[in-house]
Amino acid sequence: MVEGELPPAAPLMARRVFVTRPIPAAGTDLLAASGARVTVWSGRGDAPRADDLRAAIAATDVLLPLLTEELDADLLAAAPQLLGVANHAAGHDNIDLPAATELGIPVSNTPDVLTETTADLTWALLLGAGRRIVEADRFMRLGNYRLWGPQLLLGEDVSPGGDGRRKNLGIIGFGRIGEAVARRARGFDMNVLVHHPGGPERVMASGLAQPVDLATLLRESDFISLHVPLTSTTRHMIGADELRVMKPTAVLVNTSRGAVVDEAALVVALRSGQIAAAGLDVYEHEPAMTAGLAELPNTVLLPHVGSASRSTREAMAVIAATNALAMLRGEPAPHCINAAVYQGDAFARRVRRPDADARSHNP
Ligand code: DGY
Repeated sequence: MVEGELPPAAPLMARRVFVTRPIPAAGTDLLAASGARVTVWSGRGDAPRADDLRAAIAATDVLLPLLTEELDADLLAAAPQLLGVANHAAGHDNIDLPAATELGIPVSNTPDVLTETTADLTWALLLGAGRRIVEADRFMRLGNYRLWGPQLLLGEDVSPGGDGRRKNLGIIGFGRIGEAVARRARGFDMNVLVHHPGGPERVMASGLAQPVDLATLLRESDFISLHVPLTSTTRHMIGADELRVMKPTAVLVNTSRGAVVDEAALVVALRSGQIAAAGLDVYEHEPAMTAGLAELPNTVLLPHVGSASRSTREAMAVIAATNALAMLRGEPAPHCINAAVYQGDAFARRVRRPDADARSHNP
């Protein structure tokens, strides 16, 4: 082999994929059919602990983690042989992306397939919190419904109701999911206001919404839905100051990432009636909830099920597996989120490592 040339494409038989928790079989079947050696974590407890993960990442070619696995710079640096991380999620705040890029590790996600499913769930939360569905259900189950009354369990209109006024839906973040949520608002005859940190162009081009600044959105919206990724700038984007300027009838929905909201401040706002209700699918300290949240009647609380439909989770598993297979071959992953990595020497060194070639001959 001429120096500097990539080794010949290695058969996948000797290459290893470590899946950190069971995923839909469509994904693991695809990996297994390639001939790669697939290990699905099956240790103690619900999920691999930090030391399990450290041992696994140091002894695999590709890691297929879930969003619950924290991959920090230290952990990634402990895996000089790693050819990629194929995250089984659209979000990737569980991975230190700058560190992965610096180390030459491609990282991929599973976008698109979960857009509509997550937008549906956002609407379920919006309607559920606005119309007090969970409270009403509990009321029935407790046998409290003895007599119909005109004041029973009054909530907030989504479509123009008795006052005939069109409601304002405020969407923060106008990526694929934010846009899918806006599309659904047409059926409810709402005005849609959007604050998109990436600028107003995409919002204007969609013809679905009016771009506004954050302060206007917070002040004017009847419903506010969050669709930004979690980054250092979006962490606690909704805190005490933002909650204070919302309408007392406002309903806040979060299906993005929990830490976008300062949950302690949200508990205070919900308890004091500063805002009317919240529908949450994600939590700041997930899976834990901030003290007080679970006791509040004006919340609808779900366990991060935004993309949880059978067909969407299956599609996510297939995408994650497809990305993993490309990584095993040292080829660009179709949904790589740090594609610059392929231009760098650090990645080239990984695919050229003598043991990368040897692994293919010594299963
Ligand atoms: C994701 O993929 O980022 C969602 O939060 C879970 O499907």
